[in-house]
Amino acid sequence: MTVTVKTLIRLAGLAALCVGFALVAALTDAATAPSSDAKVDATQVAKGAELAAIGNCGSCHTAEGGKPYAGGRPLSAPFGTIYSTNITPDPDTGIGKWTEAEFIRAMRDGVDREGHELYPAFPYDHFTKVADEDVKAIYAFMMTRDASRAQRSRNDLTFPANLRASLRAWKALYFRAGRFEPDAAKSAQWNRGAYLAEGLGHCGACHTPRNVLGAEKLSDAYGGGDAERWLAPAMNEDSPAPLPWTAEEIFNYLRYGFDARHGIAAGPMVEVVQNLANAREDDVRAIAVYIADRMRRPARQAKSNYEANAFAQLQESAAVPGTGRDAVPTRSGGEASNTGATVFEGACAPCHYSGSGLQSTKPVPLALTTSVNAPDPRNLIHIVQSGLRPASGERGAMMPGFAAELTDDQLVAVVSYVRERFSRQPPWHDVVAQVLAVRSEKQR
Ligand code: HEC
Ligand code: HEC
Ligand code: HEC
Repeated sequence: MTVTVKTLIRLAGLAALCVGFALVAALTDAATAPSSDAKVDATQVAKGAELAAIGNCGSCHTAEGGKPYAGGRPLSAPFGTIYSTNITPDPDTGIGKWTEAEFIRAMRDGVDREGHELYPAFPYDHFTKVADEDVKAIYAFMMTRDASRAQRSRNDLTFPANLRASLRAWKALYFRAGRFEPDAAKSAQWNRGAYLAEGLGHCGACHTPRNVLGAEKLSDAYGGGDAERWLAPAMNEDSPAPLPWTAEEIFNYLRYGFDARHGIAAGPMVEVVQNLANAREDDVRAIAVYIADRMRRPARQAKSNYEANAFAQLQESAAVPGTGRDAVPTRSGGEASNTGATVFEGACAPCHYSGSGLQSTKPVPLALTTSVNAPDPRNLIHIVQSGLRPASGERGAMMPGFAAELTDDQLVAVVSYVRERFSRQPPWHDVVAQVLAVRSEKQR
C-alpha cells in the first residue's frame, strides 16, 4: 500500500507539473495570438480564457487523452449517450467557419451553425444568461486555440431522442432564453456571483435535481443532483454539511479543492475546482458569496456549529485505537458492524485517527464531512473505492483507493460502519445496491 501511495504522490506531482505547463502554454498562446483577424487582441483572449475556465468548456469538450477542445467526451443523458463536439477552429470538423454571431446564437439559443437544435447536455439553458461581451471574449479565446481535426462521434440515443427535431418540444417546455437579471436589493459582489453561478458556471447543472426528461427542477434549485453517479449535494437550506458553510470556506473549497472544516473536493467536482483555479480570484469569491447566501440556515447556525464540532471531537478521541472506543455507543451491534469496525481499524484508522507519517496534518474529522452525512452513500463508496487525488498542486495529502483490497462485503460493512459511527443521520438502507452499482462501473 505504501508503494501505491508513493506512486500516487509522484503521479500527482507530475500532474501538477503538467497543469503548470499547460497554463504557461495557454498564456504564451494568448500573448502571441495569430493576428490574421485584426479584432483579436490579447486582453480579450486572456479574458476569454478565464471565462472559459468558469464554463468548464475544456472539461466537457476534451476526451480522455484527446486533444484539448477537440470533443468526443461521452456524456450520459436520460436517453443514452451524447458526445461533445470539436470546438477548436478547425474549419472542417470544428468551428473554424463559425462567425461570432453564430457562436453567440449557439450559446444563447442552443442552435448550431446550420440551424439544428442542440442537446441540452451542452448547458445552454445556463449559458443563455451570459452577457454579449463575455461570449465574445470566449469566442476570441476559442478561435485562437490550436485547430485539431476530429470528426464528431456518433451519439447513442434511443428514439425519439435521437431526432434533433424532438428537441423543439423539449425546448418549448423547459428552455427559456434570456440574459441574467441582477437583483437590485443585493450587493454588486452577490450579483456577480449569481451571474457566474447561474450562467457560465452552470452549478445547477449538477447540483439541481432533474425530471425524467432531463430538465432541471427549478422549483428545487440546488436541491441536490446527480453527476456521473455521484451525488452533487444540496446547496440550499437542505445542505447535508454538518457545519454550515461560510463564504470564506466555500471560497477555499472552490479555489483550492479543500477546506479544513469540511474536507476535500472529489469526483466530478475535481474538474470544476481545477478550472476555477484558472479563473479570476475575485470571481471565485463572488461565486462563494452567492452560494453561501443560498445555503443560509439563519437561526440554527450557531447551535449546529457547536453541536457538530462537539460530536466530531467525541468521535475523534474515541476512535484512537486502544483509548476506549466503547465510550461511543453504537446503535446496532451484529456481525456486519463488527466486520466494519475491524476493516476500519485496519484500513482507515491509521491515517484518519493517528498521526501517520504520510501527511503532516490529519484529515478532516469524518464526522464533519458531507460525504458521511449525505442522504445517500454514493460519494463515500466512490471515495473508499477509488481514493483521492489532490485537486490542485496545493496539497500533497491524499488517500489510496481500496478497490482491490476490500471485498464487496467488506466495503458494504465499512461504509455502513462509518455512517453509523461518525454521523448522527439515520443509517443508509441501500448500501449493498449502491456498492454493487459503483463496483460494476468501468474504472475511471
Ligand atoms: C457539460 C458539458 C459541456 C460543457 C460544460 C460545455 N459544452 Fe459545449 N457542448 C456539449 C455537448 C454535449 C455538445 C453537443 C450537443 C449536440 O450535439 O447537440 C456541445 C456543443 C457545443 C457547441 C456547438 C458545436 C457544434 O458543432 O454544433 C459549441 C459552440 C459549444 N458546445 C461551445 C461550448 C463552450 C464555449 C463552452 C464553455 C463556455 C461549452 N461548450 C461548455 C457539452 C458541453
Ligand atoms: C459536473 C458536476 C458539477 C458541477 C458543474 C458543479 N459541481 Fe459542485 N459538486 C459536484 C459533486 C459531485 C460534489 C461532491 C464532491 C465530493 O463529495 O467530494 C460537489 C460538491 C460541491 C460542494 C461541497 C458541498 C458539500 O457540502 O460538501 C460545493 C460547495 C460545490 N460543489 C459548489 C459548486 C459550485 C459553486 C459550482 C459552480 C461553479 C459547482 N459546484 C459545479 C458536482 C458538480
Ligand atoms: C493513507 C492514508 C489514508 C487512508 C489509509 C485512508 N484515508 Fe481517508 N483520507 C485521507 C486523506 C489524506 C484524505 C483527504 C484529506 C481530508 O479530507 O482532510 C481522506 C479523506 C477521506 C474522506 C473524505 C472526507 C472529505 O473530505 O469529504 C473519507 C470519507 C475517507 N477519507 C474515508 C476513509 C475510509 C473509510 C478509509 C478506510 C477504508 C480511509 N479513508 C483510509 C487519508 C487516508
